[in-house]
Amino acid sequence: MKNPFRYEFIEEDPELINRVKERERIREALLERGSRLLVQGRRRMGKTTVCKAVVNELRREKHAVMLVDFSTATQLADLSNALLRGITASLGKSWQDYATDLMKSLSLQLETEADPQTGAIKLRLKPSARKAPLDEQRGTFIGILNRANALAKKKKIHLGIVIDEFQELGRFEEEATLWNLRGEIQHHANLSYVFTGSRAHLIKMLMSSDRAFYKMFRVLNFESIEIGEMRTWLAKRFRDHKIKAEPLLDDLLALSETCTVDRLRLAAMCFPMALRAGELTEEIIQTAHAGIIEEDKAFFHSDWQQLTAHQQNVLRALAEGETKLTSESVRDRYSLPTSGSVTNTLKSLFERGILYELEMAPGYAFDNPYFRHWVHLRNRDDLGLG
Ligand SMILES: Nc1ncnc2c1ncn2[C@@H]1O[C@H](COP(=O)(O)OP(=O)(O)OP(=O)(O)O)[C@@H](O)[C@H]1O
Ligand SMILES: [Mg+2]
Repeated sequence: MKNPFRYEFIEEDPELINRVKERERIREALLERGSRLLVQGRRRMGKTTVCKAVVNELRREKHAVMLVDFSTATQLADLSNALLRGITASLGKSWQDYATDLMKSLSLQLETEADPQTGAIKLRLKPSARKAPLDEQRGTFIGILNRANALAKKKKIHLGIVIDEFQELGRFEEEATLWNLRGEIQHHANLSYVFTGSRAHLIKMLMSSDRAFYKMFRVLNFESIEIGEMRTWLAKRFRDHKIKAEPLLDDLLALSETCTVDRLRLAAMCFPMALRAGELTEEIIQTAHAGIIEEDKAFFHSDWQQLTAHQQNVLRALAEGETKLTSESVRDRYSLPTSGSVTNTLKSLFERGILYELEMAPGYAFDNPYFRHWVHLRNRDDLGLG
C-alpha cells in the first residue's frame, strides 16, 4: 500500500497542504513585471515545493516562468549554467535567438544538448568556463540575466524567475559584485524575481542596511502550516485508509513540532503500523518517533562530534527545556561558560543551522525536534538526567 505521506523528494505536481496565501503572493510576484520578492523561512517548511507548484501552474497557463536551483552549486559558473538551463527551457522556440545573442554580445563559449527523452534543448557553458578567472565568470552571470531581459523586451514578453536558495550567491560573490548585480537587477523591467532562502544568518547578512540587497525585495515570511489545517489534512489521509486517527493527531503534531517535513515524516512512519492496527495509538506514535531517531542517529552522532564542548553543553541545556541559560544554577548543572560566552555559542549554533531564532527566551530553539530528542537521550546516559 502506498504511503500517503511524502516528504523525501519534491514531486512534479504535489498535492499541497494549504499555502493558499503564499501561492497567491508568489504567483502575483512572478506575473508582475520588474517585481522582486524574497521568500524566507526555516528549512523543511515547503518553500521549494510551493514555488514549484506555482511555476507548474503558470507554465500550464503558458507563462514563461522557471525555477532555478542554486543549492548545489560549487562555483559561480554552476549558477550561470542553472540560469541558462531555466531561461532556455522557458523561452521555447526563442532560445536560439537567445543563444545567438549571448554568443555575440558576451562571446560566451556555449554548447547545446538535446534531452534524449523530451527533445528539449539544454544550453550550457563549455566546461572550460568553470576554470575561467572569477571576473569573467561574474561578467557571464550578470550578462546572462541582462541578455534575457533584453530579449524579453524585444519579444515583448516577460520572464518570471524563481531562484531557490539564492543566498548561495554570497558564497561566491564579493561585496562589490553583489552591488553590481543589484544595480543590474533593478533595471530588469521584463524580468521578475522570486528569491527563496533558508539560511537565516546569510540572508540577514545580505539584507542588512549596509549590504547589497537591502530594501531590494518585498518579503514573504514562510511560516509553519497552521496546525488546524495540518490536522485536517492528515486526518483525511488516515480516514481514506480507514484508520481512526483523529483523537491522537494533536499528540503527533506536538511531538513533530512545526516544520512540514518533520510532521509528514512522523505521519509516514506511523502509517504502516496504524494501517495494521486500524487506528493510530499513542504507542504507535512513540514507536515511530523512536524509529526516526534510530534512522538518523549516525548523522546526529557525527554532527555532535563536530561541535565544541561549549556547544554540546548549551545544546544539552536546551534539550532539557532550560530557558535561563545564563543563570548560575543552569550554568552549574551543564558546565556552561560565562554568560557572554553562552550568547556567542548560541549564535554559532544558529549560524550552523542547528538552532533557529525564537522570540521567547532563550531566543533560540533546536531546528530539528528529532535531534533535540537524541540529545535528551544522550543527557540521560551521559549526565544521568531524568
Ligand atoms: N504544503 C505542502 N503540502 C504537501 N507537502 C509538502 C508541503 N510543503 C512541503 N511538503 C513536503 O515537504 C518536503 C520538503 O519541502 P521543501 O523541500 O519544499 O522544503 P523547503 O522549505 O524548500 O526546505 P529546504 O529549505 O530544506 O530546501 C517536500 O518533499 C514535500 O513533499
Ligand atoms: Mg528548498
